[in-house]
Amino acid sequence: MNTASPNTSAPLYEGKAKKVFATANPAEYRVQYKDDATAFNAQKRGSWAGKGAVNNAMTAHLFPLLEQAGVPTHFIEQLSDTEQRVKAVTIVPVEVIVRNVAAGSFCKRLGLEEGEPLARPVVEYCYKSDALGDPLINTDTAVALGWASEEDLARIRELALKVRDFLTPYFEQRGVRLIDFKLEFGKLPSGEIVLADEISPDTCRFWDAQTGERLDKDRFRRDLGGEAEAYAEMLRRVTAQV
Ligand SMILES: Nc1ncnc2c1ncn2[C@@H]1O[C@H](COP(=O)(O)OP(=O)(O)OP(=O)(O)O)[C@@H](O)[C@H]1O
Ligand SMILES: [Mg+2]
Repeated sequence: MNTASPNTSAPLYEGKAKKVFATANPAEYRVQYKDDATAFNAQKRGSWAGKGAVNNAMTAHLFPLLEQAGVPTHFIEQLSDTEQRVKAVTIVPVEVIVRNVAAGSFCKRLGLEEGEPLARPVVEYCYKSDALGDPLINTDTAVALGWASEEDLARIRELALKVRDFLTPYFEQRGVRLIDFKLEFGKLPSGEIVLADEISPDTCRFWDAQTGERLDKDRFRRDLGGEAEAYAEMLRRVTAQV
């Protein structure tokens, strides 16, 4: 008999926003979304009630829709307000950023005004390393240092743009400009690349289409206030029938 409560056993991994637990099935993990928020490589820390639930629910809503749109994902099912079952993957240590509109670090780096639409989507890659602050890299670097193969990176780019092509009109229909977002991909034991991690106001920039109001983690990063309300509003819009 297994007497260990799945909720009290130690996580395999605890990140800034989620805990990852092993399950009885080695091919599956349980992910628990926390209310904690960090920004600027964890130099700024905060927390608010309901954040984990919004990010869990939004990811659980969007990943099956992405599957239908031809993007394989790690998602299996939502277990509770803050937990979901996922396929265990080996995370590719390359964060993928897709940009529709100039914002954030892209503007800082290139001296651009935030909000400038880009003539075409831009895919950027960062090395997933908290110690180094997730530095910008290119795909040659990822191949040269053995983080991913050329083929894997081509598939990752194809899937990232598929995610963008699905999500951009999805949000537009809900009165939201999808400015940019960050994705993580993983590898199944079969070698298949799947979308992993989460899609939430933590990992996307969402601007209200009418007012330009920020409805994402920039409220926390920039001390704008109202982060709990903005996250709740985004979940309402994402799950609304339109
Ligand atoms: N299906 C999966 N299998 C294995 N690991 C996963 C899976 N989905 C997500 N992860 C990993 O679990 C962790 C989630 O935790 P969290 O989002 O809190 O991390 P984080 O603080 O952003 O830190 P980092 O992503 O830099 O490790 C991430 O490292 C993510 O890559
Ligand atoms: Mg994370």
